[in-house]
Amino acid sequence: MSSTRKRVLVTGGAGFLGSHLCERLIADGHDVLCVDNYFTGRKDNVAPLLSCPQFEALRHDVCFPLYVEVDEIYNLACPASPVHYQHDPVQTTKTSVSGAINMLGLAKRLRAKIFQASTSEVYGDPTVHPQTEDYRGNVNPIGPRACYDEGKRCAETLFFDYYRQHKLRIRVARIFNTYGPRMHPNDGRVVSNFIVQALKGESITIYGDGKQTRAFCYVDDLIEGFIRLMAAPDDLTGPVNLGNPVETTVGELATKIVALVGSRSKIEYRPLPVDDPTQRCPNITQARTRLGWEPRVPLETGLKNTIAFFDRLLTENGTKTEAAKRIA
Ligand SMILES: NC(=O)c1ccc[n+]([C@@H]2O[C@H](COP(=O)([O-])OP(=O)(O)OC[C@H]3O[C@@H](n4cnc5c(N)ncnc54)[C@H](O)[C@@H]3O)[C@@H](O)[C@H]2O)c1
Repeated sequence: MSSTRKRVLVTGGAGFLGSHLCERLIADGHDVLCVDNYFTGRKDNVAPLLSCPQFEALRHDVCFPLYVEVDEIYNLACPASPVHYQHDPVQTTKTSVSGAINMLGLAKRLRAKIFQASTSEVYGDPTVHPQTEDYRGNVNPIGPRACYDEGKRCAETLFFDYYRQHKLRIRVARIFNTYGPRMHPNDGRVVSNFIVQALKGESITIYGDGKQTRAFCYVDDLIEGFIRLMAAPDDLTGPVNLGNPVETTVGELATKIVALVGSRSKIEYRPLPVDDPTQRCPNITQARTRLGWEPRVPLETGLKNTIAFFDRLLTENGTKTEAAKRIA
């Protein structure tokens, strides 16, 4: 139990990252209020926490003001994968922008410290590799990804205006590709797509030639980064890149997953979607030097945990996975 027990609000707390964060905060001895409208979040993600007296869940859309009493706010509410955020792009921008305004307003009233889950997408299709926090990005403001990219950029602007104008204590993390248990099975993200396809024994679909690189951070590592950034001295406002600087090509990832699942899936190539970045890799010098943080979980370990999660999920939903077929 922590000696400095806090009341912490996590918006988007029933989502992939949010549910891991709620779990971690409770393990650290804090009281957690999870706020979510369940657009992409699932009650199952936080179900094990419901019996815990330190945990409370509230259905609420961050586009509307919220009046609660807390000491710290982590603002994660926002659909994060292209399939989800492009489903209702206007709502995506509203969630990022109105959500930020409402949560910053709450933080201002309470004088609470507030953390923003920003994204590497603020760099757009970068012309600089790896990306440092001072790179200003190459974003198409009118493309199909803009509702997310520009929404998150505007949220960062709002955070820094509240910091300058109202002396709010802010923390802005730019999160790069993160994976792990509780990712959505149908969100089109490369790790979940490949694992689900491999477990079902379906062809693995690679968009483009598979040479585009991504840098994958395991969820436990990322959450450790959130906690360290929130606890850092107040002059460390960010933005701070949090992600894994080790690049893997999408093709290599597919091969690794097929091998770990022991699947007979073949690899199929499809055209690259509009504005899909060809390379994305964080420079994490700031996180290393100021937070003493860097990813520790090897890709293979993280993938095994994630595969085990999806195997359970698919089996519960009645799908006979490759692992189940081998055992049968
Ligand atoms: N996972 C990643 O790799 C990654 C990378 C960069 C940034 N991020 C950011 O981290 C945050 C969490 O991402 P995630 O991967 O857990 O995605 P997720 O979709 O699993 O979680 C987002 C959560 O926000 C909730 N939500 C959406 N709109 C809301 C609204 N208007 N009001 C209240 N709740 C709302 C959803 O129901 C969901 O529970 C997001 O802000 C995302 O932009 C994630």
